[in-house]
Amino acid sequence: MSQKPLRVISAADVNLGIGKCGTVPWELPNEFRYFFSKITAVSAPGRKNLVIWGRGSAVKDCPSLPNCYGVVLSRTLSSVPENANYLCRDLPSALVLCSLPPLSEEVETIWVIGGVKPYAEAMKHPNCDRIYLSNIMAQFNCDTFFPEFDRETFRLVNEFPGVPSEIQEENGIKYKFQVFQKVSKQ
Ligand SMILES: NC(=O)c1ccc[n+]([C@@H]2O[C@H](COP(=O)([O-])OP(=O)(O)OC[C@H]3O[C@@H](n4cnc5c(N)ncnc54)[C@H](OP(=O)(O)O)[C@@H]3O)[C@@H](O)[C@H]2O)c1
Repeated sequence: MSQKPLRVISAADVNLGIGKCGTVPWELPNEFRYFFSKITAVSAPGRKNLVIWGRGSAVKDCPSLPNCYGVVLSRTLSSVPENANYLCRDLPSALVLCSLPPLSEEVETIWVIGGVKPYAEAMKHPNCDRIYLSNIMAQFNCDTFFPEFDRETFRLVNEFPGVPSEIQEENGIKYKFQVFQKVSKQ
């Protein structure tokens, strides 16, 4: 099984709402740019990240992600969607991809970008060391919610390198970038 860092990234409102009617219910271009920059960041040319999403969480209007292999989770699809490279039946199968060549050589970081079940499973995985959870400081009428996670195991970091700590505002909506780091066991 892969020992690469497994990270979760999301944006949620004050009630941990993340989606409504199959979409994200806010328009925050800079927050999206932050998300995009995190999942596509690699340390050197030729390196890649593995980005995993459930069938309902593809990155909107994005035919492919630079520096990334995309994995869609689905038990009903029979072929790989255009914006992805792999189709897997479950999260463990997606993680196995990274333990085999050529991905074992190329992939640096595994990102889970939604939805609820992939987030929940990823956060329980031993290799999950970090949760990037933007805090949208407003209430939307969401129908999909970020899963609860153990805030003793994952602790909010006050200042995280590469993550602006000041409150952001776009389209009249305030939000904060937040990072929760897994506390290492002694
Ligand atoms: N705010 C944010 O940061 C954010 C991020 C991501 C998504 N969202 C929003 O969240 C909503 C979508 O999330 P969602 O939880 O409803 O759906 P989802 O997880 O994106 O997609 C659900 C489908 O994906 C497949 N799937 C999910 N988990 C799986 C697993 N562990 N193993 C195998 N297949 C799996 C299944 O497809 P099959 O039925 O084909 O088997 C399932 O029906 C949308 O509103 C989206 O815009 C928001």
